[in-house]
Amino acid sequence: MFKINQVYHFDCIKFMKKISDGCISMILTDTPFEMEDGSDQASYNHNEDDYYSWIKKLFFECKRILKYGGSFFLECSIPRLATISNILNEYFEFVERWPDDRSNVFHCIKFPNLKNKDHPYQTTQIRLLKDAIQKYTNEGDLIFDPFMGTGTTALMAKAMKRNYLGCEVNKKYVEKARNKLAKLR
Ligand SMILES: C[S@@+](CC[C@H](N)C(=O)[O-])C[C@H]1O[C@@H](n2cnc3c(N)ncnc32)[C@H](O)[C@@H]1O
Repeated sequence: MFKINQVYHFDCIKFMKKISDGCISMILTDTPFEMEDGSDQASYNHNEDDYYSWIKKLFFECKRILKYGGSFFLECSIPRLATISNILNEYFEFVERWPDDRSNVFHCIKFPNLKNKDHPYQTTQIRLLKDAIQKYTNEGDLIFDPFMGTGTTALMAKAMKRNYLGCEVNKKYVEKARNKLAKLR
């Protein structure tokens, strides 16, 4: 079993298969455009059918490791939206889609610096992710991200006193995530 509050250099499906049923309170993630095989980055998959059957395997494992009542928040690119949301409906009870709307009240909080671009697809929807964590988890809950990139989910979880766990196939990003997490006090 993995230690919590760590980011592992691992392929997400292989990683999730080692996680017990129903032990995750929230999954917060941003899907990659292509599947990557951790052992060999040359084996990127560009075939749509393979990509979506991989997404199904991913969602199957996400559902298995999530607690009953746990939330799955998924950010995905516009071109994939329709297909991904159809597949999501096969596995989960769909609750709502959060648009990035505007407000005329400025509520600011102190947060780790998530603006430095360390990853080309680094998550930018910080406010929405913060709201998701605030609204649907409690302090001490375990938040999982199968595509940790440079650690945005883990940094937010740590800053908000939640536990985190995640994996990332690209070693360079794993190291960046670990460095940023070590600096966050
Ligand atoms: C959209 S980015 C996530 C960015 C992250 N939210 C951040 O803010 O840094 C998707 C990540 O998934 C990773 N990835 C792709 N295939 C993977 C796999 N099979 N297992 C684990 N990570 C994978 C990519 O290397 C990429 O860093």
